[in-house]
Amino acid sequence: MAITPPANTTRRARYGAWAVITGASDGIGRAFAQRLAQDGLNLVLVARRADRLEALAAELRQRHGVQTRVLPADLAHPDAVQRVLDDTADLEVGLLVACAGYGTTGTVIDSDAQAERNMLMVNGLAVLTMAQHYGRRFAQQKRGGIILMGSLLGFQGVPLSANYAATKAYVQSLAEGLHHELAPYGVHVLSSAPGPTHTGFADRANMQMGGADQPEQVADRTLAALGKTITIRPGNLARLLGWGLGMLPRRLRSRVLGGIMSGMMRPSPQHPAS
Ligand SMILES: NC(=O)c1ccc[n+]([C@@H]2O[C@H](COP(=O)([O-])OP(=O)(O)OC[C@H]3O[C@@H](n4cnc5c(N)ncnc54)[C@H](OP(=O)(O)O)[C@@H]3O)[C@@H](O)[C@H]2O)c1
Repeated sequence: MAITPPANTTRRARYGAWAVITGASDGIGRAFAQRLAQDGLNLVLVARRADRLEALAAELRQRHGVQTRVLPADLAHPDAVQRVLDDTADLEVGLLVACAGYGTTGTVIDSDAQAERNMLMVNGLAVLTMAQHYGRRFAQQKRGGIILMGSLLGFQGVPLSANYAATKAYVQSLAEGLHHELAPYGVHVLSSAPGPTHTGFADRANMQMGGADQPEQVADRTLAALGKTITIRPGNLARLLGWGLGMLPRRLRSRVLGGIMSGMMRPSPQHPAS
């Protein structure tokens, strides 16, 4: 069972009064929101499902006395991303947690073209746009933190999740470069690269996960690593798999992960159970 660490009251002083969390309506983003509210940060909550964001905001205001701003947005659309930037211009934002994202399973040639292109927008372009915008603000402020969600799948190509793995390779590389670019300004940048985690992710990707880490553990370990390192593998399973896979050459890692993906995919008309 995950043990909840005590509130970290220095976080607000270190980074600023407000955190922007995308993907806050579910899973890991929601866990970040709960943890940061406990630490006394005010929260901008972003995702598409406004009802879930409103319910979370009400709970966090009541439980922790923080302020909240709910910004429903479909981040596949650049104008919606821009609205989030505009609607936070008046706030003393010090932390960006870019958690919104999703994956699919199946071969690229069998997949829905629009869903794959949207994934690139949400997992890639929206992340870049927000990291660039808040990165500039934080550099001017001479403080801030940016957490980007990579993945265990982002360290090599992965059959049956090729586009998703490619978006996460982009995020991983972006975070590593940004980490060094923004360090001289006192801004911390971290890539968090979880393995399988119990969230809404598996259902949306049409997968089944057996053993998986808990989103609260992912959020806690990620926040603890911000400012200390460039990449964190935040769950027990992520560490174990990362360690095991790290021993293999990249080409073999792809094959092993392709086999794992094949076992995790739910049967579909294109990929019936054998
Ligand atoms: N769970 C895992 O096994 C795992 C492993 C490695 C990395 N990750 C990464 O961790 C991050 C969080 O995923 P999760 O596991 O917490 O999954 P999740 O429970 O499905 O949460 C995904 C979040 O992203 C939001 N989102 C999805 N599409 C969006 C869009 N078009 N516009 C705005 N928001 C959108 C969802 O909100 P709405 O549906 O309300 O819009 C939801 O809040 C993702 O970047 C994922 O790639 C997850």
